[in-house]
Amino acid sequence: MRQKTFINPIAWKGGKIRIIDQTRLPIELKYEDCATVSAVWQAIKKLKVRGAPLIGIAGALGFLLGFQQSKARTEAQFLRVAKKLRYRLVSCRPTAVNLSWALSLMHGIVETNRRRPKSAILAALKKEVDRIIHEDIQMCFQMSAHGSKLIKSKDSLLTVCNAGGLATSGYGTALGVFYRAKEEGKKIKVFACETRPLLQGARLTAWELKYNGVAVTLICDNMAADLMRRGEIDAVFVGADRIAANGDFANKIGTYSLAVLARYHRIPFYCVAPFSTFDLKLASGLCIPIEERDKKEVTTLYFKKPIAPEGVDVFNPAFDVTPAKLVTGIITEKGIIRPPFKKNIGALYGPSIKRR
Ligand code: MRU
Repeated sequence: MRQKTFINPIAWKGGKIRIIDQTRLPIELKYEDCATVSAVWQAIKKLKVRGAPLIGIAGALGFLLGFQQSKARTEAQFLRVAKKLRYRLVSCRPTAVNLSWALSLMHGIVETNRRRPKSAILAALKKEVDRIIHEDIQMCFQMSAHGSKLIKSKDSLLTVCNAGGLATSGYGTALGVFYRAKEEGKKIKVFACETRPLLQGARLTAWELKYNGVAVTLICDNMAADLMRRGEIDAVFVGADRIAANGDFANKIGTYSLAVLARYHRIPFYCVAPFSTFDLKLASGLCIPIEERDKKEVTTLYFKKPIAPEGVDVFNPAFDVTPAKLVTGIITEKGIIRPPFKKNIGALYGPSIKRR
């Protein structure tokens, strides 16, 4: 089956980085050019570009941009600039490991080529970004093919946040599985949790599923339990931002509660993610750094209208950790990993998953 990406959420255009500003969706599909490292940093921080694989790609492109604009001319300067760029860009969002993974690859390219002229280093960096993007697309297609085998026609599926084309290089992880099932002629229905506080489910997932002709019904996050009790959900598919060696994984806040609900209602719960999302240095999910974000995200309705008393205390973690024991399977580009996860993740990716 020939699969195609439906959107291009990021691209290198004339020495700048062209992104879709995802904060404007679904009202408008607007492109924006980032011309400095600081603009890239802000775009990632403000979730103009978001989703673990796409953050990795944005970081790699930001590194290329920064290196190109630097005045470095000597080996020592190349190494200094590379280190600075890596640590600056990695600081904007801590949870998705794809960002540090992609930046370490870019840093490695500079280290390997440090004795060559700057033009040759830039060419090698550009080649590496192109490779990261191409690999991401291929892995999305592979994950979708494995995941679709778990779906039957007439299935009703649940997802949270946005793990689609907008979060990757254009096809998606969890949503990629739905696209593939549809391409295979299966009639599926997807329930999308709105995903408070920043509404990635309502703004992005509902938009892209509709755009791609997948039947989608939007629900508030607190409606998932009731749908499950009514027997309306056949399986849950979510993405991931970081997966530890034992299979615990971080994903958008609210994922853990869906996993608990799915277990209670005996519904299969799948996580869909490529190898770039695994962090095998971490023994368990307890070690995953969790980003806490501005309280305004909770006290206002999408930064516009206040919906809470001024000065109220707020807890706003952007992600939670789902323990592996609640997971039915992890769908990767290499196949579906089943429990026991620690043993089977190790067997699939080897003792050091050092990135290809
Ligand atoms: O804060 P976000 O929008 O970057 O959170 C994104 C998610 O939690 C996604 O589910 C995850 O990155 C997987 S994307 C394929």
